[in-house]
Order: sequence, then C-alpha cells, then structure tokens
Amino acid sequence: MTTSDPAPAHETPAVEFNQVVKRFGTVVALHPLDLRIAQGELVTLLGPSGCGKTTLLRLIAGLEQASSGQIRINGRDVTGVSANQRDVSLVFQSYALFPHMSALDNVCYGLLASGMKKAQAIEQARSKMAQLGIEDLGARLSSQLSGGQQQRVAVARSLVLEPAVLMFDEPLSNLDAKLRRKVRQDIRDLQQELHLTVVYVTHDQEEALAVSDRIVVMEKGRIAAMGGPRELYESPSSRFIADFIGDANLIDAELFTRAGRRCLRCGALELTDLPDTQAADGPVALAIRPHRIQLGEPGTGLIQGTVLRQAYLGSRMESVVDTEAGELLVFSDPLQSLPGVGSRVGLQVSASDVRITTRY
Ligand SMILES: Nc1ncnc2c1ncn2[C@@H]1O[C@H](COP(=O)(O)OP(=O)(O)O)[C@@H](O)[C@H]1O
Ligand SMILES: [Mg+2]
Repeated sequence: MTTSDPAPAHETPAVEFNQVVKRFGTVVALHPLDLRIAQGELVTLLGPSGCGKTTLLRLIAGLEQASSGQIRINGRDVTGVSANQRDVSLVFQSYALFPHMSALDNVCYGLLASGMKKAQAIEQARSKMAQLGIEDLGARLSSQLSGGQQQRVAVARSLVLEPAVLMFDEPLSNLDAKLRRKVRQDIRDLQQELHLTVVYVTHDQEEALAVSDRIVVMEKGRIAAMGGPRELYESPSSRFIADFIGDANLIDAELFTRAGRRCLRCGALELTDLPDTQAADGPVALAIRPHRIQLGEPGTGLIQGTVLRQAYLGSRMESVVDTEAGELLVFSDPLQSLPGVGSRVGLQVSASDVRITTRY
C-alpha cells in the first residue's frame, strides 16, 4: 500500500484520524483508520457505494461521533466536539438550500446564526458571491436557480464561514455531464486560489483524477490505497485499484525466478523482460491499460488472438480480442485502419507497460 504523506513533518495536519472506528449497531462502517490531510490539500475519498466515504466525511464534520479513536482538526482534539464547534463546513449533495430564501440570504445564514451584524454579514456574503461569479443572483429565490447556480450558492454559503476544512459530498451528482466538468474545475481553481483544505467525496474515478492532490481509495470501510492521481493510475498496488481507477486488462499470472531473473508465466506464455517489481514469487495479477496495447500482425507481439467485437466511440476505437489470457480490451486511434472483427491479430505490449499487482 502507498502511504505517501505530503504533510511536512513540522506542519500540523488540517485533519488527522488516529485509529478511528465507526460502527452502526453491528455494521462496521469504518475499520481502525489512520489518515492525515495537509493544510491546503485537496484530498478525494473515492470508492464504490457503501465503502464508507460519507461516514468518514460526517466524522470530520462532527455529524457522526467515532465509536473509538481520535480525530484532530488543526491539531485540536475534536473527537467529542459537536459539529458547530469544529470550524468545518460540508456542502451537501442536495445543496440543502432554503428554497424560499434569496440566494443572498442563504449565503448570509451561517454568519447571522453565529451572531454577526446584518450589514457586515451582507458585505461578506456579497464578496464571496462575487468571487464565485454569482453576485448578480443575490435577489433570486434559490428555487429559481439552475443546478449549477445552486451549486455555487451552496459553496458560497460554506466558504463565507472561512472553515478550516471544506467538504463536498458528491457535489456534482445533480448536474449534467458538461456542467460537471466545468464545476469540478471551478472547485479545483477556487481551492488552489484560496489555498483551501478540501475533502471531496466521489465514486467517479475520472472526477477524482481531475481534481485531486491526493486520492484515498476506500474499500469496505478500509483505505485500500492512497496517492497522487498519476501514481495510482500508473502504478496500481492491487488488482482492485487497477480495476477501479481507469480501465485495465487484468490477467492472472505466476511470478517466478529462474537463474536469478524474474519471469512471468501465464498459460503457455512466458515473459522474461520484466519491469522491476517488489512482488514475491507466486500468484499475481497483471494490469495492462487498453491504450497500451496495439493490434499487430498475427504471429507478432506478446499474445495472439481474434478480434471479437469492435466499437467506434468517437475519440477511440474499442476492440475486444479473444486470447488465451481471456478477452482483452484494446483502445486504438479511430483514424488508424484496424483489422476488423474476425481477424487474427498479434497484441503488441511493451514490457514496461505491464504492471504487476496483487491478485485480490
Ligand atoms: N446511519 C446509519 N445506520 C446504519 N448503517 C449505516 C448508517 N450510515 C451508513 N451506514 C452503513 O455504513 C456503510 C458505509 O456507508 P456510507 O458511508 O454511506 O458509504 P458511501 O458514502 O461510501 O456510499 C454502509 O454499509 C452503510 O449501510
Ligand atoms: Mg455517500
């Protein structure tokens, strides 16, 4: 497992989990979990539905209490501290705006609730709304705003409180695909510009790759891996990570050593020209990205096969090739002329594009 920790040793982490457990009755939503999030870092919690992302976020927010373990925010032990005393803010998936209040009143709400004078609250709210490009929407009822505008109002409402940690739980799920791309970039730009510490939850791996400094991949209430987007994509530590982040061909193989050299066996196939690996001899999974495979002449390359299916997807051609290692997915340039369905092909893969991971 990757345990890269970006916080310089002398700097207090914005968020720190020490052996935090969360149980709901007999369900263990989080197993003993350690996590440190640095100041000004955007960390994404990524994983399939039910893996514990929202629970982890709600524990930071103080909306759930840990069953055991310790949570610190900016060095302060907040384990038993209530949500409104934690200096954190959560932007909900549904935005949770007050529909019959104007956008400006929604943004002012938290400031007024904390006892700020009205004139000052309005001034601060207006300035945050301007930063987000929604200063013209102040008088509108939030029920009259588009999805993208509501999203910004919700962000302004959180930001105006200047929280130590800003959290987003699947913030783009109510937006269409085009807008999702824009808003995720807006959130990232704002986070960088204001040097905000952000914890961002999504089940969408592309979104996670696009916005994050660091991704924490969760599986069944545990951290399966963490690292930068490129590191996780390029050097997945397990089959689960390779499969979950991006598309991957996963092939069971045996790693062995012969005359001091590391070799791989997969059926009748042997690979001797391997990239460096820490893995021990024995069963492994190979992960090969579909765009790292070329369809070549039969008899050449690493594995032989027959093209079973092919689809044109605009930005790429997708071919499924039947081989002795199973069905492999290949992405090609759509402008290239390719052997069609039924053709025998040799799959060309450079050894440096083969990743050796664990089998689970
Ligand atoms: N209030 C609750 N009561 C009982 N079980 C819960 C509660 N909240 C979450 N869980 C359970 O905890 C696990 C993690 O849930 P959650 O954190 O919502 O996952 P995610 O956000 O990754 O989809 C799931 O098994 C879920 O059913
Ligand atoms: Mg959730």
